[in-house]
Amino acid sequence: MEKQFNVLIIGAGNIGAFFDTPYSENILTHAHAFSKMECFNLLGFVDISKENGEEAAELWNVKYFSSIEEAFNKYKIDVVSVCVPDDYHYSVLKKISNFPLKLVFSEKPLAKSMKEAEEIIKTYKKKNIKCLINYSRRFVFEFEILKDKVASCEYGKFIFGSGYYGKGTLHNGSHLIDFLRYTIGEIKDFKPIDYNFDFYKDDPSVSTILCFKNGGNFVMQNIPCNNYTIFELELLFQNKRIRIVNSGFKIEEYNVLDSKIFNGYKNLSKEKEYKTELNMAMLNAVKNIYNNLTYNEKLKCTLDDGYKAMEVCEGLKADIKYE
Ligand SMILES: NC(=O)c1ccc[n+]([C@@H]2O[C@H](COP(=O)([O-])OP(=O)(O)OC[C@H]3O[C@@H](n4cnc5c(N)ncnc54)[C@H](O)[C@@H]3O)[C@@H](O)[C@H]2O)c1
Repeated sequence: MEKQFNVLIIGAGNIGAFFDTPYSENILTHAHAFSKMECFNLLGFVDISKENGEEAAELWNVKYFSSIEEAFNKYKIDVVSVCVPDDYHYSVLKKISNFPLKLVFSEKPLAKSMKEAEEIIKTYKKKNIKCLINYSRRFVFEFEILKDKVASCEYGKFIFGSGYYGKGTLHNGSHLIDFLRYTIGEIKDFKPIDYNFDFYKDDPSVSTILCFKNGGNFVMQNIPCNNYTIFELELLFQNKRIRIVNSGFKIEEYNVLDSKIFNGYKNLSKEKEYKTELNMAMLNAVKNIYNNLTYNEKLKCTLDDGYKAMEVCEGLKADIKYE
């Protein structure tokens, strides 16, 4: 296949370049995903750190550009990945919108404040720039099936759920909120319980009860990230229990069965557990980009999705006093 789209990655850190290598089985970086697809031509990296940028360029056998201007002056660029830390998403997203480009693949969260997010959405709409936000679990086949089964009421009504996360409501909690919006539906209300400044000074991890528009509640509990990293959840439906463990790499399904001990009682019994394609989410996201640019396939995580996840996170933090 001909190389049709030139790609630039801004931010040569873990998710941009270093979580994996060209020889890894898992596809965990933007560089790996774009390199895997023949239709994309990864030009190189922009990074404020020359050392990181050059190291990434060497690993992925591409160029290092010391600035966004340098890259755009030298090449026609179609797709840009934004892989800088959360604090710089807004300024980088804003800056690249001044150059001619087709699509941006941005790391989550969309921005750090609703005002920034609104400005980005307005600018991108005006300039007709498409944007895919990387809430990675949306690019996993098994979660797509789960979403469809929930939507078709195969498991009965959603009753209740609970889950754990840490390292910031916006930074990581937004993954959980986006996943719940994706699978269960819109969140209509929330009741924060407590919070913890476990990593970022401006992004405490809030514990809360979330209430869904279509009924059912979810308790989202922060576990301080200095203990360990945990991202797990379970969803209880009328006739199914789903547990998503190990950050989403594994799903357990439980069915309702007659109790073997107590006559007339019904219990939950583990029916199966299986691995997900989470290790391929990045490649699937890049396939979505190709299919969007070529066949106008719907983007699986839009600017609007990025905005709505932020809106809940910012609401949860509204009453917290910062030092
Ligand atoms: N979707 C996911 O599951 C997932 C997983 C990990 C990280 N992330 C997101 O990816 C982003 C990057 O995280 P990371 O762990 O790779 O960070 P990192 O610190 O490893 O790398 C960030 C890189 O960006 C560079 N940089 C900083 N400011 C810059 C600027 N203004 N212009 C150009 N380069 C700049 C830094 O020098 C560094 O090399 C974060 O927003 C994070 O939330 C998402």
